[in-house]
Amino acid sequence: MNKKIYAANWKLNKTPEEAREFVIKLKNDIFKIPDFFSNREVMIFPSAFALEAVSSLCAGTDIQFGPQNVYAEKSGAFTGENSAEVAKSLQAGVALVGHSERREIFKEQDDTLNKKVAVLQSLQVLPVFCIGETLAQREAGKTLDVCYSQLNNGLKEINKELRLVVAYEPVWAIGTGKVATKEQVAEVHAKLFEYLSSQGFKNVQLLYGGSVKPENAGELLKIPHVDGFLIGGASLQPDSFLKISTAQ
Ligand code: PGA
Repeated sequence: MNKKIYAANWKLNKTPEEAREFVIKLKNDIFKIPDFFSNREVMIFPSAFALEAVSSLCAGTDIQFGPQNVYAEKSGAFTGENSAEVAKSLQAGVALVGHSERREIFKEQDDTLNKKVAVLQSLQVLPVFCIGETLAQREAGKTLDVCYSQLNNGLKEINKELRLVVAYEPVWAIGTGKVATKEQVAEVHAKLFEYLSSQGFKNVQLLYGGSVKPENAGELLKIPHVDGFLIGGASLQPDSFLKISTAQ
């Protein structure tokens, strides 16, 4: 059985110093839990300026980390962008791609996301590819169509043999306190699992994201094909992140 994945998306929060404090506390607390990593993976996604701080404390440990976004080219004249190659040089092993905030606010399109995933794969950095429907799309009965199309178009030219993590995050549940119901999560995850298998993906884990908290994590984790969580607000404090990571 795969290990459960607990991924912290800090978004535009935490200075390098705050990031260091978080990791030091997290490492101390994890140390007290026997065999913590035997059935869990932990991933931290700090903002770009805090990546080196996280790297300095996590490189060589079981805590994985990486950027919240990378550019679709490794280097060159792309002022203001963040390079996957530079993240890799900081020992990043994972990276978020296509978070709904990137899609909505920064208008990232499927074909660009596709290139980003391919660049990450070429560097042996694990992509955590985010998908999910808006409220209007759900209300129009388009949830699965939207998710399938995001998968189809965003993962067109990638190597399906390599490991991939897909995070299903209904946009209406992100940062709103409105968590999807167990039935909604169960339906979408079952269909996504089926779909990805039918498309030839050999090694995919499915995360749920959207207002995951210590109070709802245990129930959500029992749902088939929920392999872990992508956590925003509740990942900012080591205590609540650890409560989620140990919820049953
Ligand atoms: P949230 O964010 O947990 O604050 O809803 C999740 C995310 O955006 O990844």
